[in-house]
Order: sequence, then C-alpha cells, then structure tokens
Amino acid sequence: MTILVTGAAGFIGHNLCLALLARGEQVVGVDSLNDYYDPAIKRARLERLAGFEKFRFAQVDLAEDGALERAVSPEIVTHIVNLAAQAGVRYSIDNPRAYVRSNLSGYVNVLEFARAATNLKHLVYASSSSVYGDRADGPFRENDAVTKPVSLYSATKISGEVLSESYAHLYGIAMTGLRFFTVYGAWGRPDMAYWIFTQKILAGETIDLYAAGEMSRDFTYIDDITAALGRIVDRPPVGEVLHEIYNLGNSTPTPLMGLVEAVEKACGRVAKKNFMPKQMGDVSKTFADISKARAAFDYNPKTTIEHGIPVFVTWYKDFYNI
Ligand SMILES: NC(=O)c1ccc[n+]([C@@H]2O[C@H](COP(=O)([O-])OP(=O)(O)OC[C@H]3O[C@@H](n4cnc5c(N)ncnc54)[C@H](O)[C@@H]3O)[C@@H](O)[C@H]2O)c1
Repeated sequence: MTILVTGAAGFIGHNLCLALLARGEQVVGVDSLNDYYDPAIKRARLERLAGFEKFRFAQVDLAEDGALERAVSPEIVTHIVNLAAQAGVRYSIDNPRAYVRSNLSGYVNVLEFARAATNLKHLVYASSSSVYGDRADGPFRENDAVTKPVSLYSATKISGEVLSESYAHLYGIAMTGLRFFTVYGAWGRPDMAYWIFTQKILAGETIDLYAAGEMSRDFTYIDDITAALGRIVDRPPVGEVLHEIYNLGNSTPTPLMGLVEAVEKACGRVAKKNFMPKQMGDVSKTFADISKARAAFDYNPKTTIEHGIPVFVTWYKDFYNI
C-alpha cells in the first residue's frame, strides 16, 4: 500500500500521515506550503514526519498542470487522500481566485492523476459541512440538498463532490467524500476561532464575537477524525455505487459562547469581548447526522470540547513557549 496524502503539511493531513506511518504504511506527502497562514507551522508539522523512513515529501502546487506527476509516479500509488485545499470561509469573500486555483484546478489535477494511477484502489477527499449552506434545522444528512452555498469556499466544496461523481462514473474510480465539521485540536489551524480566541485571551487582547447569540458549531476533535480516516482509507465503496459521501462531525452543536467559556477556562482568564454582527459567508449552525459513517466505519467520536480545548491550549502554550 502506498498512500498519497495531499495537504500533508496541513492540520488534518499531517495528523493522518502520522497515523498511517505508525501502522507501517508507505506515505508520500505533497503540499505547496503556501502562506495562507504561517508556513513555519507547516514546516514544524513536516518535521514531525521527517523521522519516518517510509515517509517522502515533495513540495508541489497541485494547481500547476503536471506538477504532481513530475513529483510522484502515478503507478506506485494505491490510495489517495486529498486534503489539500484553500480552506476558510471568510478569506473566500475577498480572495475567490485562491479557491478556484486550489479547490477546482488543483483538485481536477488530482483526479487526472487518479485516472493515470493504474494501481489505485481508493480516492478519499475532503469536503465540508459548509456544503449544507445556512440552515437553522438539523441534524444535516448526506442526502439533503446541497444547492445553496453561502460562500465561494462552500461552492468549491460542492463542486469537488460533483467533479468526483463524474470521475467515479467515467473512469470507475472508487471514491469517498468526507464532509468535515469544524475539526480542531493540537497542531491546528491559526485562522480558526478556537486558535484566535486562545491567542488573544492569553495576550490579554479583546476577542471579536460575530453573531454570538445565534452561532453554533459541531466541533470535532482531530483524534476522532484521524482514527476514522485510517479505517475509511481501507474501505473503498464496493458494488454498483463507486462514490459515497459521509458526514464526519461530532453530532453535538455547541454555541459560540460555549466555546469561549471552554477557552477561558483552559486559559484561566476571562476574555474581553467585542460583540459584532454576523459576517458575510458565515452559517449560523452546523450539526452532523453521523449515522451513515457510524454504520459503515464504526465512527464513534467521543471527545467533548471540555476535554479537547484544554489539550489544544496546553499544546499552544508549549509550541509558543508561553
Ligand atoms: N479543519 C476543518 O475544520 C475543516 C472543516 C471542513 C473541511 N475541511 C477540509 O479538510 C481539508 C484539510 O483541512 P485542514 O484544516 O487540514 O487545512 P490546512 O489549511 O491546514 O491544510 C491544507 C493544506 O493544503 C495545502 N494546499 C493548499 N493549496 C494547495 C495547492 N494548490 N497545492 C498543494 N497544497 C495545497 C496548504 O498548504 C495546507 O497545508 C481541506 O480540504 C479543508 O477544506 C477542514
């Protein structure tokens, strides 16, 4: 088994690489190491992988046609996990082209690579809870309509699912799409609320809270995601349906103020708060129905934010020597 992980220097990607390497797999990681957030964090994540004999890394911008094939020979790859993307909802409002580049052009290049990979057994790719749009109900189910994206990020993630369906159909590639719901934890992403709150609260700065009373998120802890990913990679769809999509959430939406309280408690300080209106592109709520992933992969997330946030804050203080 040789597994190509795109976005290997990213938050979820490097955690997945660690888990796959720990079970003895051959892993080829690629990433552009772009500067959407501090690339030093991406390099530090790669350092954690560098000690593994079965890990190889190549710096590749997937949006450059042919770059992936020049770095990795398609024939050696048996599994692909596509985690590379331009992430973030708010950034997509001002930087739409970055999303078209990485999430559309870059992903088509991954699909073309998959088409050329004659020994490929399974392509797993990251989608997002944002495909569900701005909804007040829930839980969200995989067969709900996903036709109302409220950000360009969401539009490119819906497009990724549609592109995948066409490649599965045309070329018989077994594919699994995963709709992640606000994944957080140690080695996380500096653009996300839990990170920004921790940074500002520890520095004694004011945190901005957008539509605090009406926001809730289905926070999902990285270790629960990584454990599930390992099993999902091993189990391509079989039979008539070659392309399946699953929600990977925690199925327990937490109000934004609940997150603030968890971070305050873990930091041992009360935040100075600035209440702001809702921002463009934001959705009010995310809430995953996870029964499909539970039945298929024994997916059983156990971590609450009361446990996960203190682990993150401890890691953050350690990483920045605070
Ligand atoms: N973390 C979450 O809460 C969450 C939620 C929903 C969906 N997702 C999706 O999961 C995947 C992983 O997210 P993450 O949180 O680890 O994000 P991340 O930003 O930490 O990781 C993505 C990585 O992809 C790389 N990348 C971006 N464009 C690239 C390109 N053109 N070529 C090569 N590499 C490129 C980046 O350098 C980065 O290291 C993404 O597809 C994201 O959209 C994440």
